[in-house]
Amino acid sequence: MDRRSFISEEERIPDHSHILLITTGSVASIKAPLIVSELLQYANVKVEVVSTTKSLSFFKAADVIEAGSRVWTDEDEWSDDYKIGDPILHIELRRWADLVLVAPCSANTLSKIAHGTCDNLVTSLLRALAPTTPTYIFPAMNTLMYEHPLTAEHVRIIRDIVRYKVVGPIGKGLACGDIGLGAMTEWRDIIRIAVDKLQLIRKSSQV
Ligand SMILES: Cc1cc2nc3c(=O)[nH]c(=O)nc-3n(C[C@H](O)[C@H](O)[C@H](O)COP(=O)(O)O)c2cc1C
Repeated sequence: MDRRSFISEEERIPDHSHILLITTGSVASIKAPLIVSELLQYANVKVEVVSTTKSLSFFKAADVIEAGSRVWTDEDEWSDDYKIGDPILHIELRRWADLVLVAPCSANTLSKIAHGTCDNLVTSLLRALAPTTPTYIFPAMNTLMYEHPLTAEHVRIIRDIVRYKVVGPIGKGLACGDIGLGAMTEWRDIIRIAVDKLQLIRKSSQV
């Protein structure tokens, strides 16, 4: 099967905001179609979704496509007939992005970002990202995972050294049954961050 191609130069549209939504293996990935659909209610916005294999257990790529976007995965990155000069997906996606939202960010991917690991499409893309691209991390995990001493250290490195914005998590009843800190920031607040950062205008409010 032919790999799907993505070339930033061809995909970027003048005067548009290009938002990359990254999803990882937390139940909160279930919100991906909703986040895409809401972002696309704003004028001149394009959204692409990049997902880890595990995160695909929590939503259907078809729902993201129906909302008006696409889902990119490790399978799209690799082919057995690579030729010098062929576009490299993680580089093309990072060239394309004006804003990156990692929502949700699992404990595993949080740790990988802090350590500089780049062993899949999501982490290769993040490692190759220009430091000038605004990037927001929205952790989501079980309370004890969040309270594990390593998590605080990973968040510190990501904030102080990698210099991404880390937002949340929030406290509430979690999908696993525990009650406490660890839930992803409410999806509407994630939208609000993107809207404020990119100064987006809702389509229905255009004259
Ligand atoms: C049903 C289910 C729910 C999970 N929810 C979370 C979660 O909310 N946060 C988290 O950090 N890990 C969660 N995990 C574990 C991650 O999916 C696992 O650590 C995985 O390796 C993450 O991979 P990724 O970071 O490449 O997406 C969950 C696992 C299962 C089976």
